[in-house]
Amino acid sequence: MSTSKYTVTAALPYANGPLHLGHVAGVYLPSDIFVRFLRMNGHDVAFICGSDEHGAAITLRAKKEGISPQEIVDKYDGIIRNGFTDFGISFDIFHRTSSKLHHETAQDFFKVLEEKGHFTKETTEQYYDEEYRQFLADRYISGNCPICSHEGAYGDQCENCGTALSPKELIHPVSALSGKTPVLKTTSHWFLPMERHEGWLREWIQEGTLDGVQQHNPKEWRNQVVGQCMSWIDSGLRPRAMTRDLDWGVKVPVAGGEGKVLYVWLDAPIGYISATKQWALDQGKNWEDYWTGDRKLVHFIGKDNIVFHAIIFPILLKAHEGFILPDNVPAYEFLNLEGGKFSTSRNWAVWLHEYLADHPDKIDELKYTLTAIAPETKDSEFTWREFQSRVNNELADVLGNFINRALVLTHKYYGGIVPEPGSFTDEDTAILEEIKSVPNRISKLVYAYKIREAQAEAMNLARIGNKYLADREPWKLAKDEANANRVKTIMYIALQITANLEVVLKPFLPSTAKKISEFLNFSQNEWSDGERVDALPIGHQINKPSILFRKIEDEFVAAEVEKLNAINMTETKFDPQKEETSYDDFMKMDIRLGRILTAEKVEKADKLLKLTVDTGLDQRTIVSGIAQHFSPDEVIGKTVTVLMNLAPRKIRGVESQGMILMAENDKGELSFVSPEKNFGPGYEVR
Ligand code: MF3
Ligand code: ZN
Repeated sequence: MSTSKYTVTAALPYANGPLHLGHVAGVYLPSDIFVRFLRMNGHDVAFICGSDEHGAAITLRAKKEGISPQEIVDKYDGIIRNGFTDFGISFDIFHRTSSKLHHETAQDFFKVLEEKGHFTKETTEQYYDEEYRQFLADRYISGNCPICSHEGAYGDQCENCGTALSPKELIHPVSALSGKTPVLKTTSHWFLPMERHEGWLREWIQEGTLDGVQQHNPKEWRNQVVGQCMSWIDSGLRPRAMTRDLDWGVKVPVAGGEGKVLYVWLDAPIGYISATKQWALDQGKNWEDYWTGDRKLVHFIGKDNIVFHAIIFPILLKAHEGFILPDNVPAYEFLNLEGGKFSTSRNWAVWLHEYLADHPDKIDELKYTLTAIAPETKDSEFTWREFQSRVNNELADVLGNFINRALVLTHKYYGGIVPEPGSFTDEDTAILEEIKSVPNRISKLVYAYKIREAQAEAMNLARIGNKYLADREPWKLAKDEANANRVKTIMYIALQITANLEVVLKPFLPSTAKKISEFLNFSQNEWSDGERVDALPIGHQINKPSILFRKIEDEFVAAEVEKLNAINMTETKFDPQKEETSYDDFMKMDIRLGRILTAEKVEKADKLLKLTVDTGLDQRTIVSGIAQHFSPDEVIGKTVTVLMNLAPRKIRGVESQGMILMAENDKGELSFVSPEKNFGPGYEVR
């Protein structure tokens, strides 16, 4: 078998919070399975990860928790690191971008690019917080989205409509530091003129070639990855600032860089390289072997990281020279949780470290479920109900049941000794052929990054085994001595299936595979496609089995769902109180009860309803952004609160004369503010 060399990276998690199941399902678990599989197949692999400890993600969190950035990264690096260890993610190294070695590596990298003329220096106007005397990086500014008018869009992106933004496009920008309106001030930065790289990037992403030489097979890349890259390139690559006016980060190592640090998306991916260096030092290896030559570089990431790994980092690697480019960038979509998006700020999450503390005996149960629902090609959802049914109906009733039967019967009939089979029927031979093909089928899927289907194939082997025993019913045959040989054949085949399961489950469910190997008193560490159908020797003594999977009770599900809701209730973070306002200012607002008389959808605007409202004074038109929450029928007849004297505005060509006041909860649900007594329209609210 020919082997290859791989450097596999998993996106460096920001050390600004613990990991939740979404991170695990969409990066760390699939990369771990991939790497375990590669190792079993004899490939030379380095599996690299670490904490991403710079950028606004960290400093904003530090501000929120009222401790220093260093304390933040130390705290979360610890939680994340232990979570990976306890969950059994088999990184060769989990490094940190706050380490000295990383700072030096990133600075050297920057200097090389600077010397080779890959940066331009530009002076631009940027938002500045006068109170904090600090320039505001993208995430430090929020405001109203110019596209969908969502409040709280960030300086780099609106999370409501997904549009990429620049800070200056925001309407009513506000600083995350002081909460005040920032001013524009000039500053100079190093920029990466990405447009210079457009030519080769197009060729490399679409054809997989560099100067006509094949590098990778572009058909193996996920559509979403190629699609996002091409739409970025097609919309025109522009210079992107590679430095920031901050003091937390890797200092800019060249003259004129005082008070500035490297952009986090420049420094973080270099973290893969510095982590490899540290590992090589620890192991007495040469780090360059892992970033050069005939070797496949694979980046496992979430879809929000695509352009950084498939465009920006490749530009940097190629510009620096002497590095391989990624062979593939398997990007995952998002995992949702019980009908909502995972959200750190709303605490709508199942945290890995908490799960591990609560259920240390249910690690493979979680791995199995997360792989079975992995968001490989589209967003998917985790629910505790599904967790229960995957564990009970698949792990316990199929895999556990089959193995238990096979081993218990072997003890009962043969004192735990693998029997010599009699002659195989045609059906037996067909089953053996089927078993033979399983490892090969799994291999093809794993190499194609279809980890979810690959696990389903492995489970299918358990299904075959379970059905084989259920159909043949050796326990009935065994009652008649005349069937002795037939029973031996059946049990022999069931035991070989079990031995095969031990191998093919290893990458996916390592502790289950370990238990099976203990039951069997037998283990195989090499995958070697399709050669092991009769690996377990006749006459071999096996051990007594114990239960592999306990069923999940309804109470377990209820308790987890309740925990989620309870946490969400008590720990909801509300916006701080706004700046003081005067009584006179408040009294300027004319707020009254109004009754909705008619409602219709506004054409080509899925969020808007056009309402006619009886205000007591008149009947006026108000356009309201509630169409995704309420149907026209639902709102007609409702008495609501209306801000009457808001300056009229044209929204999609319709003049809106006022605003309906709404309450919004942390799930983004809307509620009218309606009078508690049966008051009609026209009465003032104050
Ligand atoms: N910390 C980033 C995130 O969580 C990922 C960084 S990946 C690296 O989205 F390439 F920068 F390392
Ligand atoms: Zn928007």
